[in-house]
Amino acid sequence: MQQSRILQKLCFFVTICILVPNVLGDCNECQTNGVKCINQTHFSFCSDYIDKSQVVGCPEGQVCTSMKAICLPEGAEASCAPTPAVECPACDGSSIFVCTSRTTFQMCNGDTLTSQVSKCKENTFCSIKSGTICADRCWIENNHNGFECDRESPA
Ligand SMILES: *[C@@H]1O[C@H](CO)[C@@H](O)[C@H](O)[C@H]1NC(C)=O
Repeated sequence: MQQSRILQKLCFFVTICILVPNVLGDCNECQTNGVKCINQTHFSFCSDYIDKSQVVGCPEGQVCTSMKAICLPEGAEASCAPTPAVECPACDGSSIFVCTSRTTFQMCNGDTLTSQVSKCKENTFCSIKSGTICADRCWIENNHNGFECDRESPA
């Protein structure tokens, strides 16, 4: 009698453990579903037969997970935390130009951004505060701890 109760309890716990799905994927690590989520929406393959530099995006509105289906609708447990939104200055009527990426800037028309993208010269970075629109890395690092618009290319 006693033994069967213990057995019953044991069965109960084992069942619970099996039922709790392993939802915790790890960002940037190969998962059991054969892919590595590189951010919330993109993944690369872990197979030795597929070029690992290939990046695939989940369909619109889906996130990369550790589940067999890989991409699941937003709200599912994504393997990677969301990438924080990069804040870039907006045209507020007070400046003629704003930085729209680390190396580009655009003109403002009052408080609207015009569409033409201008580029800083090679090895220079956008900094309106520099007074020269673009400045060298040294200036960026020493004077303003970082970039005014820290992203690769204009949004
Ligand atoms: C995820 O990474 C891909 C490939 O590097 C990139 O194109 C995409 O913009 C990134 N998405 C986010 C939300 O950071």
